[in-house]
Amino acid sequence: MGKKSSRPVLVAHHGDTHVGSTASVMPPKVGLDSGGTYEASKSQLWYWKCWLRFWRDVAKLKKEYGAKVLAVSGGDQREGDHHETTQIWFESEADQDRAVEEVYQVANEVADEWVFVRGTEAHDGPLAAGTEGYARTFAEAGWNVRQDGERYSWYIWTGVVAGVKFQDKHSPQTKSRVPHLQDVAASRQAQYTWEEYAHDWIEPPDVAVWHHVHYRARGWYQGTFCYVCPAWQARTAWAVGNASSPRVERPGGVCFLCEGGRWRPFELSYKPESAVAWAK
Ligand SMILES: [Fe+2]
Ligand SMILES: [Fe+2]
Repeated sequence: MGKKSSRPVLVAHHGDTHVGSTASVMPPKVGLDSGGTYEASKSQLWYWKCWLRFWRDVAKLKKEYGAKVLAVSGGDQREGDHHETTQIWFESEADQDRAVEEVYQVANEVADEWVFVRGTEAHDGPLAAGTEGYARTFAEAGWNVRQDGERYSWYIWTGVVAGVKFQDKHSPQTKSRVPHLQDVAASRQAQYTWEEYAHDWIEPPDVAVWHHVHYRARGWYQGTFCYVCPAWQARTAWAVGNASSPRVERPGGVCFLCEGGRWRPFELSYKPESAVAWAK
């Protein structure tokens, strides 16, 4: 009794699933509130296959290293009904909520514990309370959700896992739409984060993870590593406005294997079959 477990922890970060968008991951078929069904498009089925593969790959790492999995969901879990978009498939929030739950159920087969981070209000609703609602529903269903006091989700999560300090927030303070400067922006973010902590004589995080900008980037400053997770959504009509090519950002996420204050990253990223994944 009382022997401390020395199992390493695999912290699996992912975000921006935007379930409800016609350009995002979703289950192959969902029932609609007023009857009938909506079937995922070819590109959505590709995201769904990648999503299943992502969690299979996390499960493989879990087994290989005998680790516990702490899954960190980084916000924009759903698409919501925003900015008068027509690129949504759901008729009522109930349809969308069921699909979100089905998508995350796949992940809970692998996760031992959860952190839910709130996303953008346009997607997750006022106060990003959509995230809070999902996290509470999951906790009530028996999922092991790490709480922020009385709440089930976090605006900014900080935690020390197997001696490694993390910070996870949805939107970074700085970004770049210039492809070759995206890692530079991630390094700039690492510096902002490091300095904010250091300014108040608080130990900066070893790893800071961000989402929201829908591209993958990596940067360093001093002892802080910054990782920006990609999204599980292809470009919407709005996002095409910021794009200069038909390139599809690879969906995926990043796992950090933590043990005794040391960490090691494993990037999981899924290459489209062509520049336009569903063209074949
Ligand atoms: Fe997003
Ligand atoms: Fe966002």
